[in-house]
Amino acid sequence: MCCIAALLMSSGKVFAAYNYIYTGYPPKYCVGNNPGPNSKAPPNKWGFVLFRAYEPLDIFGPYEALYALSRVHKIDISWLAETLDPVTTQPLLAAMNPKNSSSFIGIPPTHSYATAPRDIEILLVPGGLGSRSPYINSTLDYITKSFPKLKYLITVCTGSLVVARTGLLSGKRVTTNKAAFKDVVAVDPSARWIPHARWAVDGKIWSSSGVSAGIDVTLAWISCHYGDDVATMVTNAMEYERHTDSYWDPFAEIWNVTAPSGA
Ligand SMILES: *[C@@H]1O[C@H](CO)[C@@H](O)[C@H](O)[C@H]1NC(C)=O
Ligand SMILES: *[C@@H]1O[C@H](CO)[C@@H](O)[C@H](O)[C@H]1NC(C)=O
Ligand SMILES: *[C@@H]1O[C@H](CO)[C@@H](O)[C@H](O)[C@H]1NC(C)=O
Repeated sequence: MCCIAALLMSSGKVFAAYNYIYTGYPPKYCVGNNPGPNSKAPPNKWGFVLFRAYEPLDIFGPYEALYALSRVHKIDISWLAETLDPVTTQPLLAAMNPKNSSSFIGIPPTHSYATAPRDIEILLVPGGLGSRSPYINSTLDYITKSFPKLKYLITVCTGSLVVARTGLLSGKRVTTNKAAFKDVVAVDPSARWIPHARWAVDGKIWSSSGVSAGIDVTLAWISCHYGDDVATMVTNAMEYERHTDSYWDPFAEIWNVTAPSGA
């Protein structure tokens, strides 16, 4: 065992099964997941799923990175929802807006689930207060139906709770928002929930931790498919400090997350 892992373990943290620290390029999570940075045609047709009371940064963090990438590579993004009405960040229940704030925005979808392009390659699922809603069945159905044809499914934050509700995460190594970890694990305990990760990759499912972690998983995905120099260019354009270690996760400690049995 290497000295860093021993040090982390001796500090009593939950690193036992997660002591792997990799600094090389391409990172292990790239291997077998992509045609490589020299590919002439990386996947570029994205779908962003929208449902009421999504977390804003879950959408706009990844979107910012793709928006920057789209100036140097062709990127198509479809904004998908049940209907073409703008989808608001406002929670349905007044109890979820205890101060009666008016702090919300809506995104107008480009397609309904019924008219969504059939050739979407990467589907991004945000989380947020709406992830637990009983009124997002059309979103769950769309994810279930489109999954077999997707090349990648990326979840941000409790977007993994949304996908867990479809059963698609069963047996998969996935992570989620650490403040909501216990609740999310309970939705599908048969998934292999990773308590200490900024993001995780299992085949075509890429899941990330809370809110801002969507930026890092998107940059990691860009690094795998367009090369790390392009991911670095996008990162610098955003004036962002990117986390390249998928196991970086101080929030596991802050939210007292420990490994669920079977992880
Ligand atoms: C909430 O605020 C709006 C204005 O933003 C106001 O019209 C409405 O009456 C308020 N509702 C309650 C329950 O205070
Ligand atoms: C959503 O689907 C679940 C499971 O099939 C069902 O129990 C629930 O009533 C549905 N919700 C709505 C609002 O139709
Ligand atoms: C985490 O555990 C510590 C020590 O027991 C406690 O002080 C802290 O309030 C806990 N944090 C949360 C978010 O539960």
